[in-house]
Amino acid sequence: MGLTRVSGLLFGGDYNPEQWPEHVWDEDARLMAEAGVNMATVAVFSWSRLEPSPGEYDFGWLDRILDLLHEHGVAADLATATATPPPWLVREHPEVLPVDAGGTRLDFGSRQSYCPSSPVFREATVRLARAMAERYADHPALAMWHIGNEYADHTLECFCEESARHFRRWLQARYGSVQGLNAAWGTSCWGQHYTAFDQVNPPRKAPGPVNPAQVLDWRRFCSDALLECFELEKAVLREVTPDIPVTTNFMSILHGLDYWKWAEAEDIVSDDAYPDPADPASHVAVALSYDLMRSLRRQPWILLEQASSAVSWREVNAPKPPGMMRLHSLQALAHGADGAMFFQWRQAKYGPEKFHSALLPHGGTASRGWQDTLRLGADLGRLAEIAGSQTRADVALLLDWDSWWGLEAPESMPSNRLRLKELLQSWYGPMHARGIAVDLVPMGRDLSGYRVVIAPNLYMCTPEQAEWLAAFGGHLVVGPFSGVVDPADQIHDGGAPGPLRELLGLTVDEFWPLPDGQLQRVRFGTGDGGAPAVPARTWAEWLRVEDAEVLARYEGGDLDGQAAITRRGRATYLSCLLDDVTPVLSEVLAAAGVQPVAEVPHGVEATRRGRYLFLLNHSTAPAPVDLREPGTDLLTGRHLSGRIDIPPRDAVVLRTGAEPTEGER
Ligand code: GLA
Repeated sequence: MGLTRVSGLLFGGDYNPEQWPEHVWDEDARLMAEAGVNMATVAVFSWSRLEPSPGEYDFGWLDRILDLLHEHGVAADLATATATPPPWLVREHPEVLPVDAGGTRLDFGSRQSYCPSSPVFREATVRLARAMAERYADHPALAMWHIGNEYADHTLECFCEESARHFRRWLQARYGSVQGLNAAWGTSCWGQHYTAFDQVNPPRKAPGPVNPAQVLDWRRFCSDALLECFELEKAVLREVTPDIPVTTNFMSILHGLDYWKWAEAEDIVSDDAYPDPADPASHVAVALSYDLMRSLRRQPWILLEQASSAVSWREVNAPKPPGMMRLHSLQALAHGADGAMFFQWRQAKYGPEKFHSALLPHGGTASRGWQDTLRLGADLGRLAEIAGSQTRADVALLLDWDSWWGLEAPESMPSNRLRLKELLQSWYGPMHARGIAVDLVPMGRDLSGYRVVIAPNLYMCTPEQAEWLAAFGGHLVVGPFSGVVDPADQIHDGGAPGPLRELLGLTVDEFWPLPDGQLQRVRFGTGDGGAPAVPARTWAEWLRVEDAEVLARYEGGDLDGQAAITRRGRATYLSCLLDDVTPVLSEVLAAAGVQPVAEVPHGVEATRRGRYLFLLNHSTAPAPVDLREPGTDLLTGRHLSGRIDIPPRDAVVLRTGAEPTEGER
């Protein structure tokens, strides 16, 4: 189900009118209309104002706000207001407050102060969601429901007794019997054999390392427990307002929540992204998460929050220099978003976010920020026709939360330096630089549209998943430390790569993590007169090659002469983390016939949505680009062809003749 009550691209942001006297509201609405704002996210943290005492509602102010917004052409992404329970609830029921791993109950005074498993909290959210849905079902401003807010931002887990009981029920459903749990958790190790479920606890603080299988199931449970909270509210909204789509704002690529599973429960994917303006590579990291958002439901998504300039939660909160706010907004669109929204509309006067930037800064309409707001609003109006257009990618990156949770288990791995996000980025970065479109895929998705699938790491892999990969007809690249364990975090018989052994034609004899400062060199081909060896840091492996071609070998050091990179058929295996994967990547992309969407110089990002080509110059110098085909730049209305110069921190959105067909892109 998509948005039907707003057309074009979404522009606007979080709006917290309860922080302002009513006379300011009229100015807000007038300025929103002036800037072209068409959606505001309202009531995210308003529970204590909407239900000041149990069961007594004060909807009057929200009625007036929604009326006002509607009169000014602004639709509401209306929150169910359950992101922070009100003081009366936590004082009457202190058990609603979350408990940390050390047993300390966290107090009220911030936000998200709830235990996800608390029946009292859950019932109260469902009551409020119903009251909100019934009140606003027929309000013409209501365009989308917004449940919770950034689930897992502050409260991913709670270790209280209620959570322990919930965890046990979850385990019982998963394993059926305590014998099943003992087998899966390998409780014969360190004398942990359980004889009843009520002996099992969350992985609270213990004298030494906690059973990693217990931690892994806890990760799964915590993601599921919060998802249940979301789904309880969603069921009410569906019942009362069946035609209004539901979202909750994701937090880019977040370790704590399995967003593949979460996205199935939403109607529209939305994301919050805060690339650090002080980090020159942050637009690359954020592009990867945008591609995930687009891939989650394989449809356009919404950038629901970003900062117009500085945030307020980093050690140093750098502002966005001129042009960056617009460019970063266009970047989200370039990666499939149908809206570029912000936290927040009006810069706060008090509270922890009073220094956080906003579309309407403290300085008001005279400020630089307000000029940026007006400019972006006008640009988004010019780009309206791109809404709904789709991206097609030839390359897919595999991302599996179960495997990620296993890989980054604390305290018991050969190295704690294998971090999945970094591994994904090591492949994504070079493709991003070259203008290669990339999707992300979960385990088991239909791969038939792709030419190349890259699994930067697949620590956990089942025989069924290995078969699914083996059945893929294109080029497969598998990174190190893959096929190590089954879903219970138990080592596959015979060791890595477990079920991938036949596909890759090798066995990993020994993991060879490299301490800081040590490196192995990896030499491609014979070495004589060839390309220089590529350094590998952090990780290497001693391989036993059984039925594969050796593409590169370790040179020097303890692994001298051993196979480093192999290929069997179309499956390439890297046993190490190369400083730069380009030699392998280039060869695979060429063999697979993958083409960039445009030839671009360093610093220019190129993406395509249907017939629209996005060229984004992230550098601070003008960038020349040779257009393969002419088109109209939607931002300026100019017809462009041949060589163009894109000014610093500027962009071109070219409407080309037609969507390229298979093989042309
Ligand atoms: C998150 C939250 C917002 C706000 C911003 C500030 O995205 O959802 O409520 O706190 O951070 O950057």
